[in-house]
Amino acid sequence: MNQRPIIEPFRIKVVEPIRITTPSERRRLLEAARFNLFGLHADDVIVDLLTDSGTGAMSAEQWAGIMRGDESYAGARSFYRFESAVQELTGMPRVFPTHQGRAAERILCDVLTLDGRVVLSNGLFDTTRANIEAAGALGLDLSLDDALSGRRPFGGDIDLAKLDRALAEHGDRVAMIVMTVTNNTVGGQAVSLANLRAVAARVRAMTPAKRPLLLLDACRFAENAYRISRDEEAEGGRSLAEIARAMFDLADAFTMSAKKDAIVNMGGILGVRDRELADAIRVDLIRTEGFPTYGGLAGRDLEAIAQGLHEVLDESYLEYRFAASRYLARSLAASGWPVVEPAAAHAVYVDAGRALAHLDEGDLPGQSLACALYLAGGIRTCEIGALMFGTAHERRQLVRFALPRRVYTQSHYDYVAEIGSEVATVKDKLPAMRILEEPQCLRHFTAALAPAAPFPDFV
Ligand code: F0G
Repeated sequence: MNQRPIIEPFRIKVVEPIRITTPSERRRLLEAARFNLFGLHADDVIVDLLTDSGTGAMSAEQWAGIMRGDESYAGARSFYRFESAVQELTGMPRVFPTHQGRAAERILCDVLTLDGRVVLSNGLFDTTRANIEAAGALGLDLSLDDALSGRRPFGGDIDLAKLDRALAEHGDRVAMIVMTVTNNTVGGQAVSLANLRAVAARVRAMTPAKRPLLLLDACRFAENAYRISRDEEAEGGRSLAEIARAMFDLADAFTMSAKKDAIVNMGGILGVRDRELADAIRVDLIRTEGFPTYGGLAGRDLEAIAQGLHEVLDESYLEYRFAASRYLARSLAASGWPVVEPAAAHAVYVDAGRALAHLDEGDLPGQSLACALYLAGGIRTCEIGALMFGTAHERRQLVRFALPRRVYTQSHYDYVAEIGSEVATVKDKLPAMRILEEPQCLRHFTAALAPAAPFPDFV
């Protein structure tokens, strides 16, 4: 076996300075942000692992595409490059640019008449759920009970027994099945092709008039395809592009936030097979996003997406990407943090509920840990637990260390691991968090919080 280090397969041409803050500054800044990490100024963050969305570094070729962008209102050359790149990757005949993933979700939810219907999923992302609920439908997550046990190579799969029960119970009311690849709210776990095929087979077995739409939420399709190629025995030996295509071939439609695996800072895509659905989407798109050859984007953005979709399927890039997350996961585990296994590519998830056993889920252990990581080392992570979803959902209390694409190097991850080990020594002293104010929906973005007791001092 090759024991050589897996290096970042790129050189750095443009750099951004990082301002190093002091512990007393961070205490003041976090208080001013009311213990909500979304409220911080990014300049006050040392290593920003809040999200992998829109935070990637574009390549020289993508920047070249930015210069080549055709900004014509209708029929821009850049649109046709975008369209053929997306069609070649996905096989989806009708594709529309949107300003980001949630706009694609919103348009689809508008045109499907979801009122009073049910949407089933392996795991709905928060904006997807919000769009489905805003359209009057009930969203049900049917994830595996042992998804995060570490015993499953594809913990992102939908639980087929739960799916069968839900289909029997809700019958014609099921309007859509959403398969999120990879499954962001379930530890970023990958979905197997076998599972996608099993879902598609159930849909196809129904009479056409009653079939729900099978939607792929495909923003991390390349990371999912890589896991299939490495860990799904029957699929080894196929190229990543072939595997990605096999995933899309099973779906009737897809939404994609291009801010993830298309490695751009802004953009989204909606793709469908059905002509009538496409006609309805086109009208909604023009009304709310823009003319169909630019959607909510500039021509230059479309060039960058087309190029990014090509670059992301590079084997050495994905090998490095997984190596980086596994490296961080191993380093955090070494100081006693329970990490979700196998580590996803886009993020390492720490089980704060288990680690901070002195706190109940209503004490928001994930948020307490996320605040401690900021206070100790200026690291910004994201709670994915009771603050994000409320306590009604039976969820683990996770902290997500999301890894922006092509941005941080191994020494940044060493720093994160070191801060993690410092926080581990005081984990039993981390305080419960209380919510002081919250909005009606998607509360984690803007809620104001306070610790029930002071945080330990970090130096
Ligand atoms: N679907 C999934 C699975 C996502 O992870 C996201 C965004 C979206 C849809 C929405 O896309 O942001 O372009 O509107 N996830 C980001 C995250 C925000 O941090 O995980 P968007």
